[in-house]
Amino acid sequence: MSIVGDSKENTKEKAIEEGFTRRVFLTFLMGVSTVMTVTPFAPMIEYFFKKPEKRGEKKKVANVSDLEEGSTTIVFFPGEETEDRTFLVHLTPEEVDQAISEGRDEFITEGFVAFNSICPHLQCPVGPPEGTPEEEEFVCPCHGGVYNKFDGTVLGGPPPAPLPAVTLEVDKTTGDIYATGMIGKVGRGRV
Ligand code: FES
Repeated sequence: MSIVGDSKENTKEKAIEEGFTRRVFLTFLMGVSTVMTVTPFAPMIEYFFKKPEKRGEKKKVANVSDLEEGSTTIVFFPGEETEDRTFLVHLTPEEVDQAISEGRDEFITEGFVAFNSICPHLQCPVGPPEGTPEEEEFVCPCHGGVYNKFDGTVLGGPPPAPLPAVTLEVDKTTGDIYATGMIGKVGRGRV
């Protein structure tokens, strides 16, 4: 084999090696830039794709005799802090029928439904439903966020998510109402 031939082979091998190294380096750079691009959006990605978790221990919050049909009271769950402020609504049978017909009865138990009252927009305390028993909305006084009374979903305004739902159990013997968990996060809604 001639010296010229060897030298050509070496040059070719060197070129292949350099090409390979460049490809590895470019792949590495693309990986780094992808990570840098995606990382700031991680909370947003989590926000849209993470399933709501149920939180909190079972706790007695009221008795059926405490609330007339069509009325709302405030209870605290899971703790006793301001952020635990929760609306407990006793719906009329007509309201329950309406909620069922609208497909908004997911969280209704024996005519009762409950939502944490901290607005998922900028954490103002949402107001209870006011006016007639037929009133169907919770309204946030800060920026006019409006939530449906049956399922806590957003009907209008800037809130990005429904109110956290507090799941309930009613003891039919004693009439005691228990909160059994919260679906969502206080101040962030059902995310
Ligand atoms: S804080 Fe409730 S709508 Fe803005």
